[in-house]
Amino acid sequence: MRMYDIIEKKRDGIELTEEEIYFFVNGYTSGDIPDYQVSALMMAIYFQDMTETERALLTKAMVESGDQIDLSDIAGIKVDKHSTGGVGDTTTLVLAPLVASVGAPVAKMSGRGLGHTGGTIDKLESVPGFHTEITNKEFIDLVNKNKVAVIGQTGNLTPADKKLYSLRDVTATVNSIPLIASSIMSKKIASGADAIVLDVKTGAGAFMKEIEDAKELAQAMVSIGKNVGRNTMAVISDMSQPLGLAIGNALEVKEAIDTLSGKGPKDLTELCLVLGSQMVVLAEKASNIEEARQMLDDNLSNGKALEQFKTFLASQGGDPTVVDNPELLPKARKQIEVTAEQSGTVQTIVADQLGTAAMMLGAGRATKESEIDLAAGIMLHKKVGDPVRKGEPLLTMHCNIDNVASVVELIKSSIIITDENVKAPKLIYEMIT
Ligand code: URA
Ligand code: CA
Repeated sequence: MRMYDIIEKKRDGIELTEEEIYFFVNGYTSGDIPDYQVSALMMAIYFQDMTETERALLTKAMVESGDQIDLSDIAGIKVDKHSTGGVGDTTTLVLAPLVASVGAPVAKMSGRGLGHTGGTIDKLESVPGFHTEITNKEFIDLVNKNKVAVIGQTGNLTPADKKLYSLRDVTATVNSIPLIASSIMSKKIASGADAIVLDVKTGAGAFMKEIEDAKELAQAMVSIGKNVGRNTMAVISDMSQPLGLAIGNALEVKEAIDTLSGKGPKDLTELCLVLGSQMVVLAEKASNIEEARQMLDDNLSNGKALEQFKTFLASQGGDPTVVDNPELLPKARKQIEVTAEQSGTVQTIVADQLGTAAMMLGAGRATKESEIDLAAGIMLHKKVGDPVRKGEPLLTMHCNIDNVASVVELIKSSIIITDENVKAPKLIYEMIT
C-alpha cells in the first residue's frame, strides 16, 4: 500500500477502506509517513469530507494508536460528559457529584490545558489539599466506593490524534467536521466511557459560532459514538454569553458549591439538570428523563448533592470544610468593579472576550508554561436581558495584578448596553440522539 494512492483516492472523492485508514494513521504515528503527505490527505478530507463509516474507522484507528483506559472493574455503566469548551463552564464541577449522588458512577479523567481558566483539575486544586495524582487502582477503588473520582490524564492516549491535531493546526485543516468529530470522540472513547453525553456549545464563546455548524458537529459525534458501540447523545447549548456568573478557578468552585446547594445561577443549574438527567438515564439509574431530573432536583434541595461533593473532595485530600466556609478558598487581594456607562438593558456579553479578560487577570494559561492564579477571575452581576442603571456594577474583577487598564478596556468593549428591549438568549437549542 502506498500513501500516494490514498491521497489520490481521497482527492478524487472515493471512500477509503478500513485498511487504508489504519495504514495512514499507524504509519503517521510511527513516523513512517511524512508530514507533507499527511498534510495533503488532511486537505483532501477537508474538501471531500468522509462518510460515516470512514469517520468511525478513523476514530477507531486513533483510539487504537495508544493506551486505552480499562474501567471494567468499576460496577455499573460509566457515563462521561464532554463539553466542546466555553467560557466559565462550571458544569463538570457540578455534574460529577450531582450525578454520583443518585448512584451513577462518574470516573472522570481531566486535564489542565490552555484557555480562559484552567481545566477541571486546576479548578479543583483551589480546594486546599485536593490532588489528582492517584494511581489507576486508587481511582477505580474510589469510584466503586464513592461513585466519583477525578484523575489527571495518564498513559499515552491517542498519540495519533496528538500528531494529527498539531499538523492540522499549522495547515489550515482544523475546521473540518469529520476531523474535529473523530479527534474529540477518539479521546473520549480511549478514556473508557461506556456512554457519552456531549455538550456542544454554540455562539461567540464557542468553537462552533453558528448553530447549524454545532448541529452538524453534534450529529457527526453521535454517529461515531453509536458506530463504535458507545451510547452517545448531544445537547446543543448557548455560549453566546458566559455560563453562570463566575469565570475563574476558585470562583467557579464557589459557584459549584452554590449550585449544588440549589442556590446557583439559573442557566448553570438548568444546563446541569438537562445534561445530568441524560447521564442518569444512559447509566440506567432512571427509566426516563423526567424521573432522572426529579432525582437530581431532589438532591440539590435535600443536601445530598452537596454531601457528595464533600465526600469527593475529602477522598482526594481536599478540605471538605470549604463547602460550608467558601472563604477558605484562595482569595484575590483586589476586587475591582466595572460599572455601566449608561442605563438600559444588557444586549451582549461577548463570551470569548470576557474569557480573555479573565485570562489576563491570571485565571488561565496563555502558554503551557504560564502559572495560574487560582483566585483570579471575573464575577458577573448582569447577564444578557438584565436591566442596568448607569453607574451600577456590571462585574467585579478579582486579581492580584496592579495594572488592569487594558483588561478594563477589553471588558468595556465586550459588554454592550442598549435602549431596546432584549430577551435572555435561549439556553438549550436542540437534543441530538
Ligand atoms: N478539539 C479537539 O480535541 N479536536 C479538534 O479537532 C478540535 C477541537
Ligand atoms: Ca461559570
